Amino acid sequence: MSTTIPRSNLVSDDLEARAIAWRRHLHANPELSFEEYETSAFVEETLQSFGGLEIERPVGNAVVARLRGSRPGKTVALRADIDALPIVEENDVPYASTRPGVMHACGHDGHTAMLLGAAQLLVERREELAGEIVFVFQHAEELPPGGARGVVDSGVLAGIDMIAGVHLLSNLETGHVSAVPGSVMAAADLFTLDILGSGGHGAFPHECIDPIAVAAQVITNLQQVVSRETDPFDSVVISVTTLEAGTARNVIPGSARIGGTVRTLSLARREEVRDAMERVIAGVTSAHRATYRFDYEVGYDPVVNDRDASAALQRAVVAELGEEALVEVQPVMGGEDFSAYGALAPAVFFWVGSANEALGTTFPHHHPRFDIDEAALRHGIAVFARTALDALA
Ligand code: NI
Repeated sequence: MSTTIPRSNLVSDDLEARAIAWRRHLHANPELSFEEYETSAFVEETLQSFGGLEIERPVGNAVVARLRGSRPGKTVALRADIDALPIVEENDVPYASTRPGVMHACGHDGHTAMLLGAAQLLVERREELAGEIVFVFQHAEELPPGGARGVVDSGVLAGIDMIAGVHLLSNLETGHVSAVPGSVMAAADLFTLDILGSGGHGAFPHECIDPIAVAAQVITNLQQVVSRETDPFDSVVISVTTLEAGTARNVIPGSARIGGTVRTLSLARREEVRDAMERVIAGVTSAHRATYRFDYEVGYDPVVNDRDASAALQRAVVAELGEEALVEVQPVMGGEDFSAYGALAPAVFFWVGSANEALGTTFPHHHPRFDIDEAALRHGIAVFARTALDALA
């Protein structure tokens, strides 16, 4: 590694050390989505220890802290997620999960530590702030319907002027940060399709309506929606991931069930793709005398970064970490419930690189050996804090 990792002067070595300790505590004590009882208690206690914050528990295991500056002004919200995943950790590190089958394998422990760090830093600089900062420690990002919707519906964020959310990224080198305007993550929807035919003897197909043969046609034709109806520069994914039918090798079953996921980068495209899927399903099934039941489950909305909020974030990255730290990460087809906040105010979701070959922190998110380069914590704290300081200058 020839590149030097940038170090923001805004964050003291002391604060960085505390953030690493918080992160390790959280990593060793992970909790699943909607079950973050100890995690939220730890976050609340840590926030209490800073003094000067108004702390609320608006919904579920979310913790929200408000810092009022010395003068009136804008309100900026900063968000981290706090939940872990049902994965058996395979890392041999001193801070490995102490809970079998539960692991911080997506870096939410790091996000939480970053936001705690930013909160402590900003509490100490309260006199400089014109306006308010709302720190959102959100539960249950990993499990639809997610925690963000509840936080939004609680009204605790009413009146905010901007919101920024962070995510570590294990395929982005430590020292790099991305906050691109436009599409960042996809709408993540699910579907179940029942093909309804008419069963009978495997030797007499003409007396049946074979739902398996029809299902095969439907699966093939659904891919036409992606390959022939979609602008290649506006990505769409349709993945059929389950297929269930039949009980015996000499019986044609009466129905077949197909399940899968659909990913799109805009609300408009989501509607079009859903409609196109139904048109194909209706056409193919009717062509072969079958009928269908199509259940399309709308999941998290796409994450689309606001232009001005992204620009503000980018300025903070350059100010704290230098021009070279700022990179552009292409949109990914994963989903994030951070999108729910976009309805409230201009929103920006930024990636903080945590990949370091030498430390072995390049495993994909949700992998049993996922880990982060803890140097990234300082970067996240600095960008969060600089964004807020500039917005409330
Ligand atoms: Ni995540």
